Amino acid sequence: MSGNRAAALRTDDVAVWYRGVRAVDGVTLAVPRGQVRAIIGPNGAGKTTLFNAVSGFVPKTRGRVLLAAADVSRDSAHRLVQRGMARAFQVPNIFPRLTVLDNVRLGSLLRTGRTPSMLRQHQRDAVTAREAGEVLARVGLDGRAGTVAGVLSHGDAKRLDLAIALATRPTVLLLDEPTAGMSEPETRRTVKLMRELSGDFTLVFTEHDMRVVFSIAEQITVLHQGRVIADGLPGEVSRDPAVRSAYLGEEPVA
Ligand SMILES: Nc1ncnc2c1ncn2[C@@H]1O[C@H](COP(=O)(O)OP(=O)(O)OP(=O)(O)O)[C@@H](O)[C@H]1O
Ligand SMILES: [Mg+2]
Repeated sequence: MSGNRAAALRTDDVAVWYRGVRAVDGVTLAVPRGQVRAIIGPNGAGKTTLFNAVSGFVPKTRGRVLLAAADVSRDSAHRLVQRGMARAFQVPNIFPRLTVLDNVRLGSLLRTGRTPSMLRQHQRDAVTAREAGEVLARVGLDGRAGTVAGVLSHGDAKRLDLAIALATRPTVLLLDEPTAGMSEPETRRTVKLMRELSGDFTLVFTEHDMRVVFSIAEQITVLHQGRVIADGLPGEVSRDPAVRSAYLGEEPVA
C-alpha cells in the first residue's frame, strides 16, 4: 500500500510518557502522500497524544517526526503549521468571542506568522478575507461568517475548527475525532466533506465510529496501550485477531 508514493508524514519510534503512563510507546508509521489514514484504538490508546506529539503540542520522550523528508521533530506547533501541518481538535479549539470569519482569518495569520494582535490591520486585507470566505464555503459555514463563534452548535464548531486548520493551507491534515458528538446528519455531512478534502490533502484521522473509518480510510493503523498492534488495509485490520481482542468490551470493529 505505502508502495511507491513518497511519505508525507512519518513517525519513527515516537514515545510520550507521562508520569507512570506510557501514553505513546514507540510508534512508527508512514503515511504516503495523498492517503486517507485512520488511526483507531480503544479509549486511552494514545491517539490524541500521538497527534499532540506529532503536531508539537506535547514534548516527545523519544523519537522523530518527518514531514515530507524533513526532520521536524524539534519544531514548535507554530512552525509546523508554517511548514504545512495542520490539525483539528477532538474538542473544538475556536475563539468564541470572534466571528466565524475572523476565526478563519486567524488560521491564515498562523500561516503567515503574523500575531493575533495584528488582526485589525489584517482585516483590511481583502485577499485574506476572500480566502477565508472560500474556506468557509468549503466547509458549508459561509452563511455563518458574521456569527459570533461561541453560539455555534457543536457540529458547526467542529467544522469551524476544521476551517481554521484549512486556512493554514496545509499539506498534511490531522483530524482528531472529526465526528465526535455529532448527530447522524452532521456525521454524514462530515464524511462527505472528508471525502472531498481527501483529494487535496494527506488526511490522517482518529475516529471511534467504525462506519466512518471503514467508509473512507485507505489504510488503518490500530493503537492499543500506546503501541501499534496492526497496520494495513481495512479488510486486513478488521480480521486481525489482536485488533478484535483489543476491542473486546468496546464497539466491534466492522
Ligand atoms: N496530560 C496528560 N497527563 C497524564 N496522562 C495523560 C495526559 N494526556 C493523556 N494521558 C493518558 O495517556 C493515555 C492516552 O490518552 P489519549 O488521550 O492519547 O488517548 P486516546 O486514544 O486519544 O483516547 P480517546 O479515544 O478517549 O480520545 C491515557 O492513559 C491518558 O489517561
Ligand atoms: Mg483522543
